[in-house]
Amino acid sequence: DKGNHRHFMAKEIHEQPEVVGRTVAHYVDLAAGRVRMPAELAVDFRKVNRIVISACGTAYYAGLVARYWFERLARLPVEIDVASEFRYREMPLFETDVALFISQSGETADTLASLRYAKAGGASILSVVNVPTSTIARESTAVLPTLAGPEIGVASTKAFTCQLAVLLALAIAAGRARGTLSERDEEGLVSALISVPGLMAEALKSEADIEGLARELSKARDVLYLGRGMAYPLALEGALKLKEISYIHAEGYAAGELKHGPIALIDETVPVIVLAPSDAVFEKTVSNMQEVAARGGRIVLVGEAHAAREAAVETMATVAMPAMNPIIAPLVYAIPAQLIAYHTALFMGKDVDQPRNLAKSVTVE
Ligand code: M6R
Repeated sequence: DKGNHRHFMAKEIHEQPEVVGRTVAHYVDLAAGRVRMPAELAVDFRKVNRIVISACGTAYYAGLVARYWFERLARLPVEIDVASEFRYREMPLFETDVALFISQSGETADTLASLRYAKAGGASILSVVNVPTSTIARESTAVLPTLAGPEIGVASTKAFTCQLAVLLALAIAAGRARGTLSERDEEGLVSALISVPGLMAEALKSEADIEGLARELSKARDVLYLGRGMAYPLALEGALKLKEISYIHAEGYAAGELKHGPIALIDETVPVIVLAPSDAVFEKTVSNMQEVAARGGRIVLVGEAHAAREAAVETMATVAMPAMNPIIAPLVYAIPAQLIAYHTALFMGKDVDQPRNLAKSVTVE
């Protein structure tokens, strides 16, 4: 049932404040201001030396975001790869590793094969899945469910942000166990996590502006997405969403990589979507944006309104985000990334929920 939406994808984008709120509530003890993990998660993070993550597509991008959280909040090194590579890499695994698999369906063939490889190597197996009865869930030592509800649109939206919510809660729990976060730190992070649904609702208000952009974007042959830090995997996710459903060629880059090649592509026909939360690397992103502007690139800046003003770069459009703790920015900035893809594909008359050549669940290698 699409409710009063035209597509499942639209419904699922708009559902995010609710389902992310539900997921956060599952992993947070509100009264205590602390995260809580399911009892079956019998991992002693003090004895863990490394987290190894494997997933595909959008779930892989959730893992890339989580790498920043595990490394920063819990001082845990992270190794991550797409599952189709992971399964054949012959990566050495140790009993002090935790292997983490992320999957909406819980049936993705490559992710499941990676899980079995890690299991044979003796690592503890955690999974973040949306379907609790799935094969990946059944074969894991502990399951951390996302409470997104059924996701019908082939382009993953609400499953992604729910995965991020679970992964941030897990990183906080790991940081607490390892003593890298004080009780105060944890309270601050938990209150940031709790603020996400409200901020998502604010971010959804950018929809009218994004709709206005769709016509321009639909004319493009190529679109670049740039971000730094946690906005870098978001740039990859934004580009994947756009190519999946509009069939426009799109690439995500780490903003600092621009001058190592992709800047050669920039001219007035290439829209450049810059995801620029007000974090520690904001100034760096702005200087990359100035390099794009100087070469005639047409910038769509997604950032906090005051930040966009301060950036003083000529843009084709700005998409205003509310102010927030930058640690949770990936959850909120996912919304404009999804809306940009949705409205562009809609404007082009594409089949948003059932894009060509794609299956919701990729159960063959
Ligand atoms: O069910 P999974 O999360 O394991 O699926 C992984 C990918 O196939 C999936 O995220 C795919 O990339 C989506 N179509 C992205 O929108």
